[in-house]
Amino acid sequence: ASGLGDLAAARGLRFGSAVRNTQLADEDYVALVRRDCSVVVAENAQKMYAILPTRDAWRFDEADALARFAEANALGLRGHALLWNHPDYLPDWLTDTAFDGPRDTESFLRGYIGRVAGRYAPQIYAWDVVNETLDPETGALRPTPFTKAMGPQVVDVAFEEAKAAAPGATLSYNDYMSWEDGHESHRAAVLRLLERMVSDGVPVDGLGIQGHAKWTDRTAEFSSARQKAWRGFLDEVTGMGLELYVTELDVNDGDATGTDTQRDAEIAAYTKDYLDLMLDYPQTKEVLTWGLVDHDSWIQAFVDEGELVRRPLPFDDAYRPKPMYEAIAKAF
Ligand code: XIL
Repeated sequence: ASGLGDLAAARGLRFGSAVRNTQLADEDYVALVRRDCSVVVAENAQKMYAILPTRDAWRFDEADALARFAEANALGLRGHALLWNHPDYLPDWLTDTAFDGPRDTESFLRGYIGRVAGRYAPQIYAWDVVNETLDPETGALRPTPFTKAMGPQVVDVAFEEAKAAAPGATLSYNDYMSWEDGHESHRAAVLRLLERMVSDGVPVDGLGIQGHAKWTDRTAEFSSARQKAWRGFLDEVTGMGLELYVTELDVNDGDATGTDTQRDAEIAAYTKDYLDLMLDYPQTKEVLTWGLVDHDSWIQAFVDEGELVRRPLPFDDAYRPKPMYEAIAKAF
């Protein structure tokens, strides 16, 4: 075989994609996954809002189905995410009054993480333990019921429980800080959080870099000044002894101009430059895209009428590899 997963493996890396359960019923889609991925991650099925849509209704059917699919196809299974500590992405029932005080809140969180991480141990080789907990502007922890009850300890508790339930898994903090202008305060906040975790002995192994890029054009966007700032950030993270994972790569070309062919070429050139930079760091262990086929991308949900349909992923709507695919292959 000579898919992206094999090319990555030849360099000691993993390549994969987010998968939605509905895609498992699409034979052609499954064929793409089998040919090109060495790992998969659930796009939504392992989030708290999917597993606990109501207070006591544990729903593991979709997450289990993906786990069985991964096992049957000898694919690694990445876990996402034990705690998306963001007020917009918790289950609806999980409000400030859902628990009987701070101790009850903490005990729920410990129980939840222990149960979910334990269920998929040892299959899940890596977990995004905490996702997007930092406000990108203020750098403060986002004000969820967990944060309000537990303060900064919310992060420590999540990692402790994940470690206890899945001792063999690599544990990461995952967020969308990027090389883009306006992300300086977000990057600084991530560094502060990681430094604090490392110095307090919280069991964190690496940083998940989502890698959702907003795109206009390559020369303007991924300029050498921005690459320099980005390397400065990665140097600090790796200097703490942490690994790096590109966890949700895609390119939102909504602000780009030009024909599909021109946009695809730009997206591919950016992807190559970006992955070359990331793979300069031996600490980068894996690359996952957030989906494989353009029309399935989560970004399409934000496209308004009359706007261009985005071309953010490695395959077009007929499941043919695009220039972005070749760019990933070349970067490996
Ligand atoms: C997105 C999914 O792709 C959507 O289907 C869902 O409606 C919302 O979440 N950062 C993350 C991912 O960490 O979990 C998000 O996934 C995309 C942004």
